[in-house]
Amino acid sequence: MTSLTFIEKQGAFLSVSLSVDLLDPALYANGNPYEVWRAMRQAGPVHHQEARTGSRYWAVVGHEAGLRVLTEWKVFTSTRGAMLREDDNSAPYPGAGKMPILTDPPRHTELRRAVARLFTPRAVRSLGALAGEVAGSLLGDLRARGGGDFATEVAARFPLAVQAQILGIPAEDVPLILDATGRSVDEGEDAAAGHHDVMAYFLKAIGAWRSQAGRDLIDALLAARAGGLPLSDEEIVLTCDNIVVAASQTAQHAASGSLLALLEHPGMWRALREGRVDVGSAVEELLRWSAPATHVMRTAVCDTELAGTPIRAGDAVAVWLPSANRDGAVFTDPDELVLDRSPNPHMTLGAGPHLCLGAALVRVLLRALLEELIAADTSLALAAPPVWQSSWVINRMRSLPVTVVAG
Ligand code: HEM
Repeated sequence: MTSLTFIEKQGAFLSVSLSVDLLDPALYANGNPYEVWRAMRQAGPVHHQEARTGSRYWAVVGHEAGLRVLTEWKVFTSTRGAMLREDDNSAPYPGAGKMPILTDPPRHTELRRAVARLFTPRAVRSLGALAGEVAGSLLGDLRARGGGDFATEVAARFPLAVQAQILGIPAEDVPLILDATGRSVDEGEDAAAGHHDVMAYFLKAIGAWRSQAGRDLIDALLAARAGGLPLSDEEIVLTCDNIVVAASQTAQHAASGSLLALLEHPGMWRALREGRVDVGSAVEELLRWSAPATHVMRTAVCDTELAGTPIRAGDAVAVWLPSANRDGAVFTDPDELVLDRSPNPHMTLGAGPHLCLGAALVRVLLRALLEELIAADTSLALAAPPVWQSSWVINRMRSLPVTVVAG
């Protein structure tokens, strides 16, 4: 159990240091460490952290403070990184100012506008049928085998197979992109190599695509104007990396996390299958519950305060999104899965100007998967406990063994 060390009192606010290190991979051996975050929230919404590996930052575990960090972009910049690093969070970030996630408005608004039309609710609605087909076919194969590993055989393949359509990735290249993006969200040096491979892929492809029509993402980026000028090749490649990594490495974990949540809550699963719960609200609750992105980082550009804690210019601040999703000040029964929860202001997809560009697409994908699971005349059951990846970047399972059961 976590031991709390109270180090400082500032008026009504209690500043605490927990002996827990949120960047210790072992903490994530069984998925997100909700008990640790609950203990932290009880002590206060903002905590100073100094990781064993050297990373120093403020950990924001409360919903209200987290929302402030993500919406007040003039105070908390994205240009010095959007994810914690193991050691020095103040080192210059490659790609800063050249891809949406590492840019502040107004440049951010221009870069995002270049591709936003591909991802509006209207634009992605038409992918629903394809998503249903792909999910249905992968689930059909799994059922025909009597079960298997949902994480690798369905969840990992399904979102990118659908999104490849928008991203302009031919089917034969999907495994390569899955492998490279998978490495890009590992901790440490593998991440750089993974991003390198994604960008090398797009850099090679960019010349060929210039002369071809019909590649939606690249077409949009080639046609875009920011400040009256075309985007540079570097900006285009970095923006592709941003979108492709985000697209392929999160939705699959939301899919696995959603199925696990349903299998662990049979009453809720039955209610959903019997049509007693709206699929749309179930999708929102499963997003709140599965919360694949563990944190997002910002850097304070001036001295400020957060829930009474003084933050200095240059300090790194990380919002732990799954913790915000379980904040009892905002959610009734936060540790219960309530598929018809309303309202549901979860922060799984972020907030503010960087709110996930793929938000509508993720909802289409999860809805299609749920509809396929609901429509099937057999159900699934856990065949063995899931194996987690132990990651403080993405809440992900290595495997989710399931078996087919009647009913
Ligand atoms: C369940 C799946 C997903 C989750 C949990 C997720 C989560 C997030 C979060 C938390 C952010 C905010 C980052 C920040 O504030 O710094 C974000 C941004 C982003 N996401 Fe997603 N995402 C998901 C799926 C997708 C998909 C399918 C795409 C494909 C288009 C995508 C593309 C992006 C992009 C491009 C950004 C950066 C937006 C910007 O900086 O303006 N995401 N996502």
